[in-house]
Amino acid sequence: MLRQALLVASRSDGVRKVMETAPLTRGVVRRFIAGETIDDALCVTDDLIGEGLLVSLDVLGEDVHDASQADATAKHYVELLERLAGAGFGARAEVSLKLTAVGQAFDEDYTLENARRICTAARSASTTVTLDMEEHERVDSTLRILHELRRDFPDTGAVVQAYLRRAEEYCAELAYEGSRVRLCKGAYAAPESIAFTDKDEVDKSYVRCMKILMGGKGYPMLATHDPRLVDIAGALAVLSDRDPGSFEYQMLYGIRPQEQRRLASQGAQMRVYVAYGEEWYGYFMRRMAERPANLGFFLRSVATR
Ligand code: FDA
Repeated sequence: MLRQALLVASRSDGVRKVMETAPLTRGVVRRFIAGETIDDALCVTDDLIGEGLLVSLDVLGEDVHDASQADATAKHYVELLERLAGAGFGARAEVSLKLTAVGQAFDEDYTLENARRICTAARSASTTVTLDMEEHERVDSTLRILHELRRDFPDTGAVVQAYLRRAEEYCAELAYEGSRVRLCKGAYAAPESIAFTDKDEVDKSYVRCMKILMGGKGYPMLATHDPRLVDIAGALAVLSDRDPGSFEYQMLYGIRPQEQRRLASQGAQMRVYVAYGEEWYGYFMRRMAERPANLGFFLRSVATR
């Protein structure tokens, strides 16, 4: 109930305006978000890479409805990738892209062109782009754009959300040689007819999907903070005879940081998803929806200001 309410609120302009003008402490938002500028993001990236972690950078912003804003976001990604190239991080720092930030809400061809610009800049920086998966209404379009991009940029990463009833089908289609696939539970509201809404069902689906990806020929990117699923991933790696370089774990910046470092210290590839920018509201609210304890932390920090 609370999760659904927070997810509805994450899409409400009214609540967003109230939240953005609320006396948010910088610390609360900064627990999950690396800062507002490219410099902030590069500073966090440099620290994480220095600790043996990998990074995927996300420029906050989504559901854009006009071309000038979409164009500005695409340019921002290109500038970020030029800075990453200068820093010489290579594939240790890639980018994650929400297609609704570069035009998907109003023009698929235009979105593809923007995504191509970003993939071209990523190639120059010797790194990759992963296409985040958003609301269930966007899945078909995102997969179409992914397949177009992979003609020229075969290392473009895909995302499968385990809560979708069709998740196993997507994994089977995407588990081919060279295919980078992130598996996550799914962070958006979706109807029962399309997605599992029961947590246990989602977890079971995640395990079934993981078996397909780990047993397949692609490069699985297992995005979860769930301790049970992380353990199962380790067991599946042994069963499927996968060496640590043939898959990676992924977690969000600010969530289970000690576990991120523990996995890396054991020789696993551990990528941290680092979001930054001014448009923090939707991202922040989805993190609240995932864990009510975060909401308590947030409310306490506002109350004790
Ligand atoms: P779950 O939410 O069940 O949490 C398991 C445990 O992890 C909790 O008990 C707690 O200990 C810890 N935890 C989880 N969330 C926490 C939080 N917010 N704060 C503190 N502790 C927390 N979704 C999507 O729809 N499209 C996408 O493209 C992506 N991309 C993506 C990339 C990466 C790298 C990650 C890690 C996640 C995503 N997601 C996503 C989000 C994903 O779908 C999901 O909502 C979150 O990862 C939370 O699910 P968990 O698997 O962590 O399990």
